[in-house]
Amino acid sequence: MKKMLLMNGPNLNMLGVREPDVYGRRTLASIEADVASYGAQRGVQVDCFQSNHEGALVDRLHQAHGVYDGIVYNPGAHTHYSYALRDAVGSIDVPVAEVHISDVDAREPFRAVSVIAPACVAQVKGLGAAGYRVALDLLLEGARDRLGEGFERRAQGKVIVGTPEGPLVKPVDGREG
Ligand code: DQA
Repeated sequence: MKKMLLMNGPNLNMLGVREPDVYGRRTLASIEADVASYGAQRGVQVDCFQSNHEGALVDRLHQAHGVYDGIVYNPGAHTHYSYALRDAVGSIDVPVAEVHISDVDAREPFRAVSVIAPACVAQVKGLGAAGYRVALDLLLEGARDRLGEGFERRAQGKVIVGTPEGPLVKPVDGREG
């Protein structure tokens, strides 16, 4: 059985309470349960991990090497500045799909930049909690190519996946969750 890791970074434990107009009313526990049951339907075991601490997240990524077939990861605010987490994603041979619940491109300018995504194989943003399932699907479809530096200039959209020819915008059905 394939094993996937669902990872969430700082402040995502506050989902449900935190800025519901931006992030919705679903709790992290409910999202984790949903992704785990969706994974089970697709024959995949999904383990979940959330931390507010950069080092704990770096450690968990290192430990995932050789254990997991893919990682669905919402790095929260670390997205925009943590080179340590970007290097951790780059250090392991496990495909990582970055997820953002909100549309980071339509908010404050600092949110439009992800220093982690170039090391990831996909980036999903602005689809609400449904984005976690979309990311799991991309990993199960075999996304393996890292997006690379400057991918935003070569592919603009809500779901971007790495391909041997470079990053590609992938159409998805509407927002839910
Ligand atoms: C987020 C977007 C980030 O900018 C923010 O810091 C978060 C959540 C999202 O899921 O939309 O914590 O990653």
